[in-house]
Amino acid sequence: MQVTGTVLTTRRVDAYHALTVVAPGIAERFRPGHFVGVAVGGAQTSMLTRRAFFVHDVKPDYGGTVEFVFSVSGPGTAWLADRRARDTLDLVGPLGRPFPLPRDPVTCVLVGAEHGSATLFTVADALQRRGCRVDFVLGAASADRVFGALRARRMGETTTLTTEDGSLGMRGRVTDVLPGVIADVRADAVYACGPMPMLHGVTTVAVEFDIPVQVAVEERMACGIGVCMTCVLPVIGDDGVTRMVRSCVEGPVFRGERVRFDDVGTIPFDALGAPGGGTRNAG
Ligand SMILES: Cc1cc2nc3c(=O)[nH]c(=O)nc-3n(C[C@H](O)[C@H](O)[C@H](O)COP(=O)(O)OP(=O)(O)OC[C@H]3O[C@@H](n4cnc5c(N)ncnc54)[C@H](O)[C@@H]3O)c2cc1C
Ligand code: FES
Repeated sequence: MQVTGTVLTTRRVDAYHALTVVAPGIAERFRPGHFVGVAVGGAQTSMLTRRAFFVHDVKPDYGGTVEFVFSVSGPGTAWLADRRARDTLDLVGPLGRPFPLPRDPVTCVLVGAEHGSATLFTVADALQRRGCRVDFVLGAASADRVFGALRARRMGETTTLTTEDGSLGMRGRVTDVLPGVIADVRADAVYACGPMPMLHGVTTVAVEFDIPVQVAVEERMACGIGVCMTCVLPVIGDDGVTRMVRSCVEGPVFRGERVRFDDVGTIPFDALGAPGGGTRNAG
């Protein structure tokens, strides 16, 4: 649904900005892994496409609020960083398919990198409500870009932090420590959100341990509602056939081992409908 919401609070969290917006309809329908499409630039803007942000938190205040977390990476996020309390924002959401949750109380490792970590706390909350054990592995380039370390320490059974420059936790990447964490906690499942190469690495580790992995991808998006095909990526279906699927509506959450990470940004020749073979191969 589309909501014109009032900005309730703005805050800085190290390298990130967090905006809380009153958006009752979106908060009410939200499930972990959903994202919102935010109009940027105001009425006369040339920035026509909405910008996608994972929902970090929802609260019941004022009928329902949603909070999202971002860093400035271009004109749209720069405009958002200038918003103040009582400004209005045009939001569409909740968008996408959320994370599937296990039926049984299993042990889950939640892996986040950069702002992707912000997506994991509602997942952790939902898992814990089902009796699951939750362990966190969070990482980033440097300490100021590791989002949510304190909250992870409060919520998680264990929390392992990594930074590439060694300024917080262990020096390296989340994928360097993940095998040890999975083995130590005897994890049954992995949930991950972060840049595509990190999701690829996390999936490789989970597959080595033969445990399921759910990844929330951030493929470039334009419409966010399934119309424009900007966000497609090659994903293997239940029937073993690769299809170019829209990450905004069929995702952004996928089973990691189904995403053909090496082929993201291309149409593999054996994908259904691909020029020169896909349709014929699938027929
Ligand atoms: C499902 C999803 C969830 C996301 N969640 C977050 C989040 O929680 N926090 C956060 O900081 N960022 C998030 N992003 C990335 C965020 O959407 C982009 O950083 C933002 O759109 C950049 O806009 P810009 O105008 O500042 O930069 P520009 O680079 O000028 O953006 C121009 C265009 O490219 C698209 N674009 C640029 N970078 C990305 C990207 N990495 N992914 C997708 N589209 C992009 C924009 O939508 C826009 O149409 C998410 C992306 C997706 C797809
Ligand atoms: S962003 Fe337009 S179809 Fe996904």
